[in-house]
Formats: sequence, C-alpha cells, structure tokens
Amino acid sequence: MNTDPIKVLFVCLGNICRSPLAEAVFRHRVRAAGLEDRFEIDSAGTSDYHEGEPPDRRAAAVARRHGIELTGRSRPITASDLRRFDYIVVMDAQNLRDVRRLAERVRPEPEIRRLREFDAESAGDLDVPDPYYGGEQGFETVQRIVERSCDGLLAHIRSERSL
Ligand code: 4NP
Repeated sequence: MNTDPIKVLFVCLGNICRSPLAEAVFRHRVRAAGLEDRFEIDSAGTSDYHEGEPPDRRAAAVARRHGIELTGRSRPITASDLRRFDYIVVMDAQNLRDVRRLAERVRPEPEIRRLREFDAESAGDLDVPDPYYGGEQGFETVQRIVERSCDGLLAHIRSERSL
C-alpha cells in the first residue's frame, strides 16, 4: 500500500484570508475522518504582499466562531511547491492564471483545481470571493463556502485515492 502522505496546498492572493481558512478547515475535516496521518496540508499566496504575517484577524475571528484555529504565516508559492504537492487548490480565476503561469515549465504538471469545483452549492460560480476589502459578512460567506467545498474536496480525494 502507498502510505506517502497526500499533499494538498491551498492558494490565494495574500495567504492571509482565504487559503489559511481553507487549510484549517480542510485539516479539521481530515482529522474528523481519522485521516490526519495520510495528509500533509499547507497554504501559500501568489503574492508576497503579506509575507511573514499571521492570518488576517477578521479571518481568524470567523474561523474561531466556527470552532477552528488558524495557524501559520503568509508565504509566497514557489515552483518547488508545484513539484512537491499532489493537489494545488486555488480560490479564484486570477489565482488559477497565476499558478498556471508558474507551472508552465513544471513536469509532470501538478493537478491544479479551484476549490469551488467541489462546492455542491456553487451554482456555476467557481470563485471564492476575495473578502479583504469588504466587511465582516464577506468573511462569514467565505467561511461557509470553504466549509462546503472542503467536504467536497475530501470526498473527491478519498474516492480518487480509495481512502
Ligand atoms: P487573500 O486576501 O488572498 O484571501 O489572503 C487578500 C489579502 C490581501 C490582499 C488581497 C487579498 N491585498 O491586496 O493586500
């Protein structure tokens, strides 16, 4: 049996709002499923605007209200991440363009997906909206989208990997 951990990297623009939320929610779901030994989970940004900073306090607050602690510090994605991770999961169409550009010369090409492909209620809108310049309600919306999508993503990976 292949027991190498399945490596999942969540990616947004700043790595202080959406991708730290997705990382923490996905980790929570994996732990609840008793699969934490089978996964390695991290997050990164397509920019270095907030490199070294902890998650945005509004993102941390909404996560805490839902029983989840955010961890880590912002870091920019690198080409070596694209070689190392099995699944690169981005938040919106701009992230997808930026990561695809970085992946152009990486072989084999990693699997790059948008998180909302796994949202049962996406109704065709595949972007996790950027909450940074909005209010509190935007963070609540993002939290709900991320929770639904992480359920779908875990189901997808379990089915692909027979877990
Ligand atoms: P994130 O949110 O990509 O979800 O971490 C943002 C954080 C910072 C900026 C934009 C979005 N910014 O422009 O600094």
